[in-house]
Amino acid sequence: MTLTDLAPPRVRDSWSALPADQQPPWPDPAAVQRVQAALSAAPALVDVPACDALREQLAAVARGEAFLLQGGDCAEVLDPQAPRRAVSTARLLRRMANVLEDAWTLPVVTVGRLAGQYAKPRSSAVEQRGAQVLPVYRGDAVNGAAFTAAARVADPRRLMEVYRASAATLAAVRRAGVGPVFASHEALLLPYESGLTRFDGVGGVPYDLSGHMVWVGERTRRLDGAHVEFAARIGNPVAVKLGPSVGADEAVALVERLDPQRLPGRVTLIARMGAGRVRDRLPELVERVRASGAGVVWVCDPMHGNTVQGAGGRKTRWVDRIREEVCGFFEVHRALGTHAGGVHLELTGAEVTECVGGRERPVAEGALGVRYESACDPRLNARQAVELVQDIAGLAGSWLPSALPGAG
Ligand code: PEP
Ligand code: CO
Repeated sequence: MTLTDLAPPRVRDSWSALPADQQPPWPDPAAVQRVQAALSAAPALVDVPACDALREQLAAVARGEAFLLQGGDCAEVLDPQAPRRAVSTARLLRRMANVLEDAWTLPVVTVGRLAGQYAKPRSSAVEQRGAQVLPVYRGDAVNGAAFTAAARVADPRRLMEVYRASAATLAAVRRAGVGPVFASHEALLLPYESGLTRFDGVGGVPYDLSGHMVWVGERTRRLDGAHVEFAARIGNPVAVKLGPSVGADEAVALVERLDPQRLPGRVTLIARMGAGRVRDRLPELVERVRASGAGVVWVCDPMHGNTVQGAGGRKTRWVDRIREEVCGFFEVHRALGTHAGGVHLELTGAEVTECVGGRERPVAEGALGVRYESACDPRLNARQAVELVQDIAGLAGSWLPSALPGAG
């Protein structure tokens, strides 16, 4: 008997009976099942020991002994240059990590939004241009970005392409020897995640071997939903995005669902409140989660609560607002004596013009069109990203728990 046999079939797809938000309208559900079966038979993309190693490093973050730097594209795209771009993103993350490590003498755990970040939750199922209404673009894992009826059909063969592209990306990052960069993405498309889940972990605990860490997004974190159930079942370190509408009871319940055993490093909470709300909304959540006895990692995503319409109707973010949310996040943790555990950023190694601002060579709002390449949300370019971590490095000193007066 193998460990696989020990995992009750109920556990394998316990999520499938529950409501799953944000799933594409696949025209041929049988074809999706075939892709899921093919993924089940394909080599896993990452291995269990690496997932466990990340969980142990995140446990150090939860104890206040390390910092998490997570970042990358909002949405990866299927194109032959993707692995090269991911290597550049991974290099940028390491460069940023070095800035923080030098300033703080604290290890920085780097986790990319890469090798799997191909699916997007959307606020509307359709997109209208003029008189024409088409299904919305849901990321290259699902359909094409072009505004044509043909491109917007959800095509499950894309899931296989995402798998191959992710394997190529992981191989390229390893080959480039940039240093330890783990892979993470939003676990949005359950047939993909489930297809890459393997039941041969220690004690039969399933692991989603599509990436080291996966997260549940702000739009799919309902407690009775399929995404939370899936995340609760796997052995990987998992994260959940928390927007301004989350209640403290809900946050505590999510942690309880995802980590009933209080395994250190198991749960990361990614707060994305917006610069104007982080100081109001975050303290209660942090206090209530702490009171529940859970030792989670708290991370600040200063991107998704600060998206605005810029000139020409393009989505953008102001670097000043991004920095302001990070400052608020650090202030809240300093006031409570808890650890500001990390940041989660959308960024790219390329010199794009998607976010407004910056110190040296700032991007003007009127210049957003010069090099706006994101398939979804606006990313910090390399210069803006490095400047941001320089500012974050400057926030250090009094905030480290070990630097608090009286701490032994
Ligand atoms: C994202 O991380 O790209 C995203 C969609 O975030 P959120 O779930 O926080 O809206
Ligand atoms: Co995004």
